[in-house]
Amino acid sequence: MAEIEQQSAPGSEWWRTAVIYQIYPRSFADANGDGIGDLPGITSRLDALSELGVDAIWLSPFMPSPQKDAGYDVSDYRGVDPLFGTLDDFDTMLAAAHERGIRVIVDLVPNHSSDQHRWFQDALKAAPGSPERARYIFRDGKGPHGDLPPNNWESVFGGGMWTRVTEPDGTPGQWYLHIFDTSQPDFDWTNPDVREEFRGVLRFWLDRGVDGFRVDVAHGLIKKDGLPDYTPDPEGGSMGGDEDDVPYWGQSGVHEIYRDWHALLAEYPGERALCAEAWLPTLEKTALWVRPDEMNQAFNFGYLMTPWDAEELSTVIRESLDAFGGVGAPSTWVLSNHDVIRHASRLALTVESPQGDGIGPRTEPKPDRALGLARARAATTVMLSLPGSAYLYQGEELGLPEAMEIPDEFRQDPTWFRTKGARYGRDGCRVPLPWSGTSPSYGFNDTGASWLPQPAEWAEYARAAEEGVDGSTLELYKELLRGRAERGLGSGSLVWEDLGRGTVAFRRGDLHVAANLGEVPVALPAGASVVVGSGPLTGRELPVDTAVWYTLAD
Ligand code: NOJ
Ligand code: CA
Repeated sequence: MAEIEQQSAPGSEWWRTAVIYQIYPRSFADANGDGIGDLPGITSRLDALSELGVDAIWLSPFMPSPQKDAGYDVSDYRGVDPLFGTLDDFDTMLAAAHERGIRVIVDLVPNHSSDQHRWFQDALKAAPGSPERARYIFRDGKGPHGDLPPNNWESVFGGGMWTRVTEPDGTPGQWYLHIFDTSQPDFDWTNPDVREEFRGVLRFWLDRGVDGFRVDVAHGLIKKDGLPDYTPDPEGGSMGGDEDDVPYWGQSGVHEIYRDWHALLAEYPGERALCAEAWLPTLEKTALWVRPDEMNQAFNFGYLMTPWDAEELSTVIRESLDAFGGVGAPSTWVLSNHDVIRHASRLALTVESPQGDGIGPRTEPKPDRALGLARARAATTVMLSLPGSAYLYQGEELGLPEAMEIPDEFRQDPTWFRTKGARYGRDGCRVPLPWSGTSPSYGFNDTGASWLPQPAEWAEYARAAEEGVDGSTLELYKELLRGRAERGLGSGSLVWEDLGRGTVAFRRGDLHVAANLGEVPVALPAGASVVVGSGPLTGRELPVDTAVWYTLAD
């Protein structure tokens, strides 16, 4: 068989190969004991991330916010919510990360603000047609009395995408557009004021020294002219659908915004980076966000969504390297984040669970814990061998499963409220981390308070319980990250190999990678010597749901 070799796009910038660890601040570490993680908490735990071996951290939003969508509803883009600390705390955290050689990416939420943002409050007080209203998407309603929404679009979180306001004189008035919750009005990005404002926001954080931005809903900023009606495919995912021309996703007008930001970042020293959160139907389309003059990276959600199937996994890896490499960008790799079911549970799901549905007490059957963990460890063993940049989500290095038994009364995700409980939403992947000890809050703080309840069995996943323990998920991650760095696996070529049905196999230089996603054990080649394995091997047999890195004797 002819060797098929794939090359990752060349270049030496740090973000091409970086392992970036996502911190969800409210659930990482809580220094003041109020049950919500904070910036001083992050600073106090940076050593753990150095030991893990990550290159950078990305922080989900910590800016002032009413927290209707856990901070993705920003009311002031140039500050820190008192819940998380102060700007000084941010500067301290940034300096402490940089001292350890860890870069810091912050989350930028440009598609919408909070309804408590000064601009939106001004818009509510101003008249229809005013410059204040023109910063958002206000329209008159349909019907003789304007009491029908301007079009039929449905919010990602359930319910309609329009909310009617009461005009300052008390009469029922115009409607405003919100792709997400009613508390998250969309900006009108055709308005130069909005563009200028965000240039200022970028500069504010760049001046403080951040290394880049993860750009929220980077495919949503421009809406199709005329806001035409659109009915999504009921089978499609809520964040992007599978269709090509959704009037609020992936409109071509977004690209000039990112070209503008690219040029702005280039004025700053030190390779500042932009990463797109863009849920798009194909990898080819996603690659448009990372053309040489736009963003640097885009999350590879195609990879994240790939089921546990050898052929599909090989295909998505091949297509990712082709699509991103085709525009000179690195592929990214990601298995978990704060919006999806943790991969230690997702990979063992036997029922359909569209994104955002989550898992809760009434979900049956629940994914098997041991099976999910075995697959998650194997999936990560493959992921961290791939060329490009990899994203980790806090807690996956502990093997954390989704929290599946959160009682209804604790739920916080707007999805839960807007669908009246029909969809559990994303709280199950957002539960505060266990650090140590055997009772809540497992070292998350020292008061026991926690904004979402932590499952009792999480004591066994605590960092301290896994630290130095042979075979623990934490030690596996450390070994993989060390090996990835030492062998320079973030760049270079990948040569596909064939170990038979049900397997994914390739070579990175003299390091071979094999994963068994099939139903029977598979023999590794004679002379194989295992460098690291996601689980134990029996002789040369690679068991199902296991992956290894190995070398071959000459
Ligand atoms: C994507 C974020 O990751 C998600 O958590 C948030 O709810 C939406 N964007 C809206 O900002
Ligand atoms: Ca706190």
